[in-house]
Amino acid sequence: MQSLTEFAEAKLAEMDDASLRRRVVDSDRDGEGGLWITRGGRRLLSFSCNDYLNLAHDPRVKAAAVAATERYGVGAAASRLVTGNHPLYTALEQKLAALKGTEAACVFGSGYLANAGIIPTFVGPKDLVVVDELAHACIWAGAKLSGATLRIFRHNDVDHAAQVLATYRPRHGRALLVTDGVFSMDGDLAPLPALASLCEQHDTWLMTDDAHGIGVLAQGRGSSFAFGDKPLVPLQMGTLSKAVGGYGGYLCASQAVIDLVKTRARTLIYSTGLPPATVAGAIASLDIIQGDPDLCALPVAKARRFTALLNLPAAESPIVPIVLGGAEVTLQAQRLLEDEGLLVTAIRPPTVPAGTARLRVTFTARTPNAEIERLADLIRDRVLPLNGVERPE
Ligand SMILES: Cc1ncc(COP(=O)(O)O)c(C=O)c1O
Repeated sequence: MQSLTEFAEAKLAEMDDASLRRRVVDSDRDGEGGLWITRGGRRLLSFSCNDYLNLAHDPRVKAAAVAATERYGVGAAASRLVTGNHPLYTALEQKLAALKGTEAACVFGSGYLANAGIIPTFVGPKDLVVVDELAHACIWAGAKLSGATLRIFRHNDVDHAAQVLATYRPRHGRALLVTDGVFSMDGDLAPLPALASLCEQHDTWLMTDDAHGIGVLAQGRGSSFAFGDKPLVPLQMGTLSKAVGGYGGYLCASQAVIDLVKTRARTLIYSTGLPPATVAGAIASLDIIQGDPDLCALPVAKARRFTALLNLPAAESPIVPIVLGGAEVTLQAQRLLEDEGLLVTAIRPPTVPAGTARLRVTFTARTPNAEIERLADLIRDRVLPLNGVERPE
């Protein structure tokens, strides 16, 4: 039998051959809004971070985190259901619920843990879960863990979702449709009004993952409010690790739904509470988000500046994909931009479908306009020709 080490070496060699091996690289984000990253001795301007509002390095957020560490210590010491529920949690959950227009909220250890815990709370082996084909990996994890029948609809294709529900809904007890609110690798929005009415017609609950919407869409309220002031989604999940600048996941919903999650979701019950500093940092960030709609609008405005320069469809979020296709050419593009002092990470399968490797470009409130222009020029003049892709006029 192959030894464990031989197995690992063979797998790694396979991935190297296909340019699909991933590596973690020391990345030292410095204090200037976290915009700059030092890697291998080079200082690069990041177009790859999800800290859209530059709050991870905001002095007000850092001060709140330091004060919480002094007051409550470094760790929560137990699950929230045992002794880990330090008093900062209540304040954070109230702020999240207020922002999202719901009765209540529940904070999890991370966005991944939230999806892995929420979905199995509401559907099980006799039920149906319907998921957009480009949904985030942790939605798939939650859907699979639930044991429910899993059906997929084509990306943002409401007619296909309707066909799937018409066929499968009658065969199951409860049904849940889950989608990203903003798609993490494509930057587009889910058609929430149409999905909400479809779910109503088919007696199906709608859940969104708003990881990339909170803080940056609809005055910071997120994708559920991008189509009007009425929240369309009864289960609004998201993360505190992107525009909020820290770490942790959440669900905003009615009081009863949240009460059920708090007594049933295994990733909440059987995992230690977040460090107090993290919870305090998120509270400070949400105060900034609620008080500064102009700041919240900046990342999308910057992304639109970039898409206009390249004659691409106007950005809907701070994420703009430049799809190059092959994994190797995308790595080559990343290296070329690094040589120009810009960090734009190559995203390859299986994170994105085969043949759609891409540069995923993200924008923050403080991304300098001159650098956006320089990046657009480099992409037009040097990156797209790598692939023989037509230059935008
Ligand atoms: C759409 C989406 N959902 C969930 C997550 C996971 O959130 P977290 O990093 O808090 O685990 C991410 C990214 O990490 C994401 O992009």
